[in-house]
Amino acid sequence: MPSRSAPTTAHLAALAETYGTPLWVYDLRVVDTALATVRAAIPDATLAFAVKANASGAVLRHLAIRGVGAEAITIGELARSLRAGIDPARVVVGGPAQDEALRALAREARVARVSLDSRSQWRDWCDEPDGWPQGTLAFVRVNPGLDPRTHEHMAVGKADSKFGLTPDEALALAREVASSGALAGFHVHAGSQLTDPSVHEGVLATLAPLYDALPQARELDLGGGFALPGYPLERLGALTDAWVRPRGLRLWLEPGRALVAAAGTLLTRVLHVKEGPRRHLIADAGMADLVRPALYGAEHPIHPVTVAGRVVGDDEALEALDVPTDVDGPLCENADRLGRDVRLPALASGDLLAVGLAGAYGLGMGSHYASHTHAAEVVIDAHGAAHLARRRQPLDALWADEVDAEAERTPA
Ligand code: LLP
Repeated sequence: MPSRSAPTTAHLAALAETYGTPLWVYDLRVVDTALATVRAAIPDATLAFAVKANASGAVLRHLAIRGVGAEAITIGELARSLRAGIDPARVVVGGPAQDEALRALAREARVARVSLDSRSQWRDWCDEPDGWPQGTLAFVRVNPGLDPRTHEHMAVGKADSKFGLTPDEALALAREVASSGALAGFHVHAGSQLTDPSVHEGVLATLAPLYDALPQARELDLGGGFALPGYPLERLGALTDAWVRPRGLRLWLEPGRALVAAAGTLLTRVLHVKEGPRRHLIADAGMADLVRPALYGAEHPIHPVTVAGRVVGDDEALEALDVPTDVDGPLCENADRLGRDVRLPALASGDLLAVGLAGAYGLGMGSHYASHTHAAEVVIDAHGAAHLARRRQPLDALWADEVDAEAERTPA
């Protein structure tokens, strides 16, 4: 079985003892490595982290200190980014909705950029009493109408997706925005989990006539979407260099997964082992924690941290049993699964598993399905020390917001 990256198995086992399971562990040293990789490949880009990938305050504060901005599509994401100290000068507000509350906070915070996904969004901004916010510039989001060759749910650059405007409509809107002096340029996020930079070649080919037609467009936002592992960022660097430099454009990128996925591990304990022609390991984490396997058929690496109670060595070669094995969650449907046909050794109840590449789209997509409460989050800092970043959700969080109709009917 392939070996895991940091943190060590001994450290993970100790964290599970201290904080219980399921447990999210984010190693900020790995975030730094990922950030350095992106910056080395595309040094000139302004990075706006896609907050939806991981909205944990500890992660956002870490990125803020390192000069990373944010891409925020809800008032919650924007509020969290600002609270974490992310510089509004590096914030892009986007998304297909942009309601009044989001606009109000974006205006108050003086965010640098807004990506317009429709003409009606532009109207909504301009129709407010203060008009288009002074000092904010707009991207116009283009739907490139191509096949980004990824899971259907993430293929947002396809012509039939709800995102962006056709190139012709985008040019028309951009001309209008430019005439009021508010245009930054065009924005394309072609999809997520992209592995092939030729998708971005296609995007740039679609954008070329728009930039030729509109010299007021001085910036380009190419979104995010870089698969991990798999996207050759250095090729994107070469591609954007050759494109952006001669045109003198400022480049923005909105990586989410590429910055945080490798840093995250979901620790889960095996509660029961069910032997048979297919072995089922019933774990204490499942689709309510990490929905990606259920929703996208995503495959996350799963490694044992302990085998029959013994902490395994980091580079220890373990012999996998020759039995098809599923790592299943604690809830009541087949989709509640963390891994299918996983190669694992003979595990016992109480053993710990580390689900890897789990730092992106984990807790943020988690749910309270079957009244499951959110797991705790721990971060490992630059010195290798672990800190609790979010406590395990207490049971009463499940009903804290409920209104007790009975009590309302009966006056005290
Ligand atoms: N920019 C925009 C406008 C986006 O919509 C997204 C992601 C990103 C940037 C960041 O994409 P990334 O670099 O993380 O691929 N829940 C799915 C991913 C959905 C991504 C949605 N938009 C998953 O778990 O894989």
